[in-house]
Amino acid sequence: MDPQEKKVALRAITYGLYVMTGAGNDELAADGVNWLTQASFEPPLVAAAVKADSKLHAVVSEAGTFAVNVLAEDQLDVVKAFFRSTTVEGDRINGQRFARGGETGSPILDVAPYWFECRVTDTVARGDHTVFVGEVVGAGVRDASRPPLTLRSTGMNYGG
Ligand SMILES: Cc1cc2nc3c(=O)[nH]c(=O)nc-3n(C[C@H](O)[C@H](O)[C@H](O)COP(=O)(O)O)c2cc1C
Repeated sequence: MDPQEKKVALRAITYGLYVMTGAGNDELAADGVNWLTQASFEPPLVAAAVKADSKLHAVVSEAGTFAVNVLAEDQLDVVKAFFRSTTVEGDRINGQRFARGGETGSPILDVAPYWFECRVTDTVARGDHTVFVGEVVGAGVRDASRPPLTLRSTGMNYGG
């Protein structure tokens, strides 16, 4: 396999760009992620790949739950704050106001037009990211008119 072609071909996969969050026993974590997809209608499952050495990984492993905040196409500035380590000050996480999701306690950003909460059903710990499969147990829509943010529109890459 040509490593350059492998990289370019894998980067041709189309993605969204989300803020994935979790709540451990005494800490919260939130990261910008694009490796995420729905994986079943019934039960409703999603699969997300989380960096194995990240705080988000530790928190989701501990809690067995997570949430996904789907941002709008004009909210790149919001997700950018989540490429850094998590900081919580009062009711803000990485500068964004949040509330705890009713099903999992995971942070739900006030500015996210869409969100869902998941309970981890399966974990595939192979390679430098772990795939968490989660059943969707809660969801909310604040503004269905807002098109979701896509990775391609940002000019950034995470893949290859
Ligand atoms: C465009 C982009 C996409 C990313 N996608 C993912 C992802 O799908 N999964 C993941 O675990 N980290 C992803 N990251 C990295 C995390 O956002 C980053 O590692 C994290 O904020 C740092 O957390 P840490 O300090 O706990 O390691 C992505 C980063 C960028 C810039």
